[in-house]
Amino acid sequence: MHSKKRVFSGLRPTGRMHLGNYLGAIRNWVAMQETRDCVYGVVDYHAITTPFNPEELRSDVREMVLDLLAVGVDPDRSALIIQSQLPEHTELAWILGTITPISWLERVPTFKEKSEMHPDYLHLGLLSYPVLMAADILLYGANEVPVGDDQLPHLELTREIVRRFNHMFGETFVEPQAYFQKDSARIMSLSQPEKKMSKTLGPDSYIALGDAPDAIRKKIRKAVTDVGPSEESMSPGVNNLFRLLSLVGGQEEHTRLMDDYEAGTLRYVDLKDTTAEAIIAFLEPIRQRREELAADEEALDHAVQSGHELASQMARETMANVRAVLGVG
Ligand code: AMP
Ligand code: TRP
Repeated sequence: MHSKKRVFSGLRPTGRMHLGNYLGAIRNWVAMQETRDCVYGVVDYHAITTPFNPEELRSDVREMVLDLLAVGVDPDRSALIIQSQLPEHTELAWILGTITPISWLERVPTFKEKSEMHPDYLHLGLLSYPVLMAADILLYGANEVPVGDDQLPHLELTREIVRRFNHMFGETFVEPQAYFQKDSARIMSLSQPEKKMSKTLGPDSYIALGDAPDAIRKKIRKAVTDVGPSEESMSPGVNNLFRLLSLVGGQEEHTRLMDDYEAGTLRYVDLKDTTAEAIIAFLEPIRQRREELAADEEALDHAVQSGHELASQMARETMANVRAVLGVG
């Protein structure tokens, strides 16, 4: 019997990792390696559900792997995989698709959002996106899934799929739980602080892990603070800056500036400059580590090869069981 908890999570290769990804989810990927058996995936089949450039996709995958290694995902302890290299992901997704009612998928908030954002790119794959995500998780029997809170509806759907499958064919899959910290599960956009930090809102909305110090200073200076003249409580933008400051290790400055805020003497420019410098200092070791790794092609190849073997074996075992249960193959 397997004693350690199992973990799976995925990241879409859409350019570089940003601070929302890192603080919301990926730092938990790193922490969970200490006590659990983890499989982490760069999910390129998810990336092709929204408009993309085939020429950039391969290099985006590489950039994401580099970012993951730079923040501390350790390929000697966790299996790091590229989703499209393991055909079991799409195979299981097909099977799960045959028991997932369309009405469940039409309810998923990200489906509504993405179809509104790209009305001319509506397709079956966008609708069944969460089914592929369920397959990713179930293939490795994951109990826990570290994600930001935008993924909670997808995880709920995964659990519904598990219950339905087990009900129809007998106990086969375990129900996974989302794993996140309340204070960082949703980092807000710098330019539109009522929305989550995301690449789709444009470069001023997020800090990428690779942003140069000057770019970080500029973006934080431009961050929206007040929305109107008569605010009773802290505005979402100011709240987000305070939260970022604390999450990147500026607790002392956080306390000092919060005192100013409460006394009504806070200058937003001080909050911004302090937050920018704290973010720059926080990202510096990651930037250095990434630079070293980028020059080391072998380390990069090793990182995805070692995980592939292990993950592939787990995936094949799951599929053998699923095929047997279904009477196919
Ligand atoms: P994605 O870039 O959409 O593949 O997201 C990768 C991971 O980062 C997922 O677990 C997301 O839930 C998480 N994530 C993305 N944006 C944010 C955000 N603004 N705040 C917290 N977590 C986020
Ligand atoms: N849907 C996730 C996102 O948009 C990415 C993802 C794909 C994922 N498969 C997964 C996350 C499995 C956790 C587990 O960010």
